[in-house]
Amino acid sequence: MGAVEIAGFTECGWRDPGAAAEHARWCCDRLERGDILVLPHFPVISEEDRRFLTQVRQSGSAFVKNISYEPSSGRVRGFSRSGTDARALERVLRSYAEAVRAAAMELLAPYAPGLQTDLTSFRPIEERGRQLHGRSRNDLIHIDSFPTRPARGRRILRFFTNIHPDEPRVWITSQTFAELAARMAREAGLGADTARRRGLTRQLGDAASAALRGVGIKLVQRSCYDRFTLRFHDYLKDNQAFQRDCSKQRHEFPPASTWIAFTDAVPHAVLSGRYALEQTFFVPLESLIAPEMSPLRILEAIAGGALV
Ligand code: SIN
Ligand code: FE
Repeated sequence: MGAVEIAGFTECGWRDPGAAAEHARWCCDRLERGDILVLPHFPVISEEDRRFLTQVRQSGSAFVKNISYEPSSGRVRGFSRSGTDARALERVLRSYAEAVRAAAMELLAPYAPGLQTDLTSFRPIEERGRQLHGRSRNDLIHIDSFPTRPARGRRILRFFTNIHPDEPRVWITSQTFAELAARMAREAGLGADTARRRGLTRQLGDAASAALRGVGIKLVQRSCYDRFTLRFHDYLKDNQAFQRDCSKQRHEFPPASTWIAFTDAVPHAVLSGRYALEQTFFVPLESLIAPEMSPLRILEAIAGGALV
């Protein structure tokens, strides 16, 4: 597990189109095995747009962690309205989302038919010394799981771009998901709880969501998989011995670089850096080269049954 530099891919696509299919497959395979792919110079946005973004301020609300953009609706949330051109912000985030999607379709061509675009974010706050509470902290090692957007076994694929003019964004990562799950998934609550709650939760969930739909409220319906990955995220952040003693690898992502990882399985934390863009995708299991390496399949093997 580590960071792998991809030299043969530029903003015009693969340098060697004849080898594109083979290289793209290799990239997917490395990602699925828990590596981070790094494009050392891949700024994605223009210098003018980069400068514009570094002037944009995040809203001061304690509930806002990042500025977020929803490509499907064009909605931007979490920015400070005073002094920000909202239309320009929407245009720049849309252009980033589109450019990253276009790059993903080529760089990771095996995923192209199933690639589902999720949210885009802009992270303008310095992470070093950031005062976030407990489980919201970004500097504690964790795997990603979204409370409001259940993955239901799909993989969480994220592209990050460092748009700071001269400072790196610094991450630490730890062992593979398979190693962490083998050691800690049962202790974190996988198994009895998820299996026992399955039938009951499904029945209650179906009844409750039908009732709430009737009055116009949409309930988030989490699979056993999503309930467990949320728990595992919290378990890792709360576990001081793990945070202190786990093996750690440090990564410095330079200005204008883009890096890519399945953050549902690469345990990660950010130590410092500000001004990063990020695009999330879901990748369905059918698109994967090695579905047996996915967190869903690894957890199902430990739990001894289906989790979605
Ligand atoms: C995270 O997903 O935990 C934060 C990563 C980052 O903002 O660099
Ligand atoms: Fe994360």
